[in-house]
Order: sequence, then structure tokens, then C-alpha cells
Amino acid sequence: MIKTIGLVTPGGDAPGMNPTIRAVVRYAIFHGLRVKGIEHGFEGLIHGDIREMGLKSVSGIINRGGTILKTIRSHDFEKRGNRIIAYENLRRENIDALVVIGGDGSLMGASVIAKEMKIPVMHIPASIDNDIPCTTETIGFDTAVNTALDAIDKIRDTASSHERIFIVEVMGRDSGFLALEVGLTAGAEIILIPEKKTSLAEVCRKLKDGIDRGKMSSIIVVAEGYGKATDIAKVLGRSLNVEVRVTVLGYIQRGGSPTADSRRLACVLGARAVELLLKGEKNKMVGVVGKRTVATDFAKVLRSHKNIDMDDYRLAEKLSK
Ligand code: F6P
Repeated sequence: MIKTIGLVTPGGDAPGMNPTIRAVVRYAIFHGLRVKGIEHGFEGLIHGDIREMGLKSVSGIINRGGTILKTIRSHDFEKRGNRIIAYENLRRENIDALVVIGGDGSLMGASVIAKEMKIPVMHIPASIDNDIPCTTETIGFDTAVNTALDAIDKIRDTASSHERIFIVEVMGRDSGFLALEVGLTAGAEIILIPEKKTSLAEVCRKLKDGIDRGKMSSIIVVAEGYGKATDIAKVLGRSLNVEVRVTVLGYIQRGGSPTADSRRLACVLGARAVELLLKGEKNKMVGVVGKRTVATDFAKVLRSHKNIDMDDYRLAEKLSK
């Protein structure tokens, strides 16, 4: 029977991790469990940075971005020797189940722990990239979309005043989920994502078309995984002989107070992960499809791939003329 849950937030942070921590801690304590927080991600597991978490330790964090458990991106956990030390630390702290909150790297780590350490593990997907399969949405995605949207709305004011083309680079090292959602909802004229091969010649043609129709300012949203906004600006500026300005939104997308949507997901998935552990389930990722929570085996999640919704892409194209 599970008595103590360990909780860890490895990898890149996402707005909504804190309300998820709160949900896990409070739901677990409500059901008579103890919770121990592991600081600095998987690195903290190796170094034994582990502390008891009580009801009060998570008060006042539902509205805070980041993670109070801190995080480090490191490759140390990839070494088997370090994982053996991590396992000894878990045993010493009497941690008999683990909840991992994070993105794709954390999911991988969670599945390795489940396999090697023989303790039940639950993963809660939290990432601004929304690139994790078997869940419609990851915690933090909605907040990042709204942060970028707010910035682009402001950029549009100056873009239209100066009749300039603006390229706004959003995060997404390998995927365009954020760029597509932001591009669609910001009314971007062009969206560039790694999943859709669009040549810059094509982009030039579209912009030229617009200019011929009297559209003197345009917003291009580009995912970092497609290419650097500064490089694209040079090509477009030269080809069209117009002014092209660049804004790289960068890390502001990872911070800020989580939106209602991100907080709701945090509350629901945090509680559900603990509930499933109490029911004896293990080694699953707890995601959401529509309004329903769905728990999927690690093996299946790792085999799956999340595809961009090309209908959304085409819709954005049609609406951007
Ligand atoms: O959280 C994922 C992500 O936002 C990627 O889209 C981005 O490339 C990456 O994090 C950058 O994060 P870091 O600088 O912390 O490695």
C-alpha cells in the first residue's frame, strides 16, 4: 500500500506546474498520504534534495508561474550509476510512488524509473509546447498561447501604423503547436511551422500578393523549429525590398500567472494522478481528451506521435487573406 508519494518537476518549466504541485500535495494529504518534494528535477533525486510537503507548503502558489520545486536541465540522470543512487535516495526517504510533472524529457525519465526502480510512477504532462501525444493539451500551453497573443496584438498596432511586415518567433524547438494556435488566434497572415514545409519563395509570393491587394502590413508567426526569425527577415527584406521587423518572444512565454484553463487542468490532472495511484494503477501518463481525463500506459505514449491539426492550419490560411 502506498504511504508516501514523491513529487518532481524536471525539464523546462511551464506555467501551471505550481497549481499541479498544489493539487497533488493537497489531494494526497486529504487521502491520508505523505508527500515529499524532490527539488531540482531528476538531479535532486541523485543528490537527495528531498523535503516533506505539507498543506501550507503549497498555499499561495495556485496563481504563480514556474515551479516551487525548481528544475535543472541535466544529462546526469542518463547515467545508470546515478539512477542507482537516485533509487537508494527514494528508498531512504520511504517514497513508494512517484509523480513526475513535465514535458517529453520528463516522460522519458518517468518511464525509465518505472522500468528500473519498480515503483509505481504517474506522469502529468506540463509543457508550453503541447507536443505530447495521448493528451489534447498539456498544462501551461494555454497560458503560453495567451502570453504570445497579448504580445502579437500589441505588435500589430505598430505594424499597421508603420505598414511593416513583422516576424514574431515563438517557442517550439521541434514542433509548431504553439505557433499554429497563436497564429490562428492572432490572425497571423502567415504561419511557419516545422511540420509544414513552406519555402520562403512561397512566403514572398503570398506577401507580394497582399501588397498588390493593398495589404501593407503583415504578421508572420514562426516556430523556432522552422528557422530563425532574423534569417527569414533578411531573405524577405531583400526579395521584397520592404522593411521587415523581428520580435523573438523567448522566455516570457514560459512565465507568468497560469490562465484559468491551465489551472483547471492542473487541479484535475494532479488529483487524478494521485487517485489512480491509490487505485493501484501505475506507469501511466494522465492526460485529457475533451473534458475527460485519460490515463495511458507509458509504452503507448512513447510509441505515439501527436500530429498538428492541418485543418486548423488551412483555416488560418483561408482567414488570413
Ligand atoms: O519548454 C520547452 C521549450 O520551451 C522549447 O520550446 C524550447 O526550445 C526550450 O524549451 C528552451 O528551453 P531551455 O532554454 O530551458 O532549454
